[in-house]
Amino acid sequence: MANLVNGYRRPARWLHWIIAALVLLMIPAGLIMVQKGLPRPVQDTLFVFHKNTGVILFFLIAARLIYRLRHKPPPLPDTMPEWQKRAAGIAHFALYALMVIMPVSGYIRVRADRFPIEGLDALGIGTWLPKSPELAAVAQSIHVTCAFILIGLIAVHIAATLQHALFYKDGIWSRIWPPNG
Ligand code: HEM
Ligand code: HEM
Repeated sequence: MANLVNGYRRPARWLHWIIAALVLLMIPAGLIMVQKGLPRPVQDTLFVFHKNTGVILFFLIAARLIYRLRHKPPPLPDTMPEWQKRAAGIAHFALYALMVIMPVSGYIRVRADRFPIEGLDALGIGTWLPKSPELAAVAQSIHVTCAFILIGLIAVHIAATLQHALFYKDGIWSRIWPPNG
């Protein structure tokens, strides 16, 4: 079917793909760095990457949310059943919620235990939280639980995209790809 659907604006596309690429690097980095028996330099490098990229992601996600609140996305095609539109809305809302929960819980987990975040430390940005191993433990369990929910949702999200791109051919893919479109 011809692509008659308008796409997302360029900033929304760029933000989607930059954040997607970084999140898809953060997940394996996080999963690998907590494995026992890793050589110390590998583990340290992954932790430094994970914590600092996570902080950068927080700001990218904040920018994306602000942009999203100011720019409603184009309507979905009429050919899409109502239940699918609703499911997409719920899934996207959950992805946004998890994109906020992950960096915030990671930050609290690290800072409440007084661990470094090298980039912020270099900029002289102090720790805004009291030292609290209890708070760190709560944040850790939120971070780990939500990581697995996020992994599941991303898998469904990618599967749904493939279905639209390969079977329905309803123009959903070209709403967001290419980034410069
Ligand atoms: C290879 C990976 C990915 C593919 C192929 C993909 C594909 C897509 C597509 C086709 C859309 C447009 C849906 C529409 O037209 O309504 C979309 C939107 C969206 N994607 Fe992804 N995505 C990927 C990764 C991710 C990741 C990792 C996240 C978040 C962690 C994410 C979050 C979102 C959100 C929240 C929207 C909704 C945008 C809005 O309406 O504001 N995506 N994605
Ligand atoms: C979108 C952002 C983020 C994603 C997707 C993410 C993802 C993950 C994943 C998948 C794990 C492995 C969970 C496990 O099996 O134990 C993890 C662990 C971890 N993450 Fe993140 N993370 C993010 C942001 C952050 C930030 C900003 C920080 C800190 C500044 C952080 C600190 C940590 C720490 C310390 C662990 C190890 C948890 C533990 O103590 O066992 N993360 N993260």
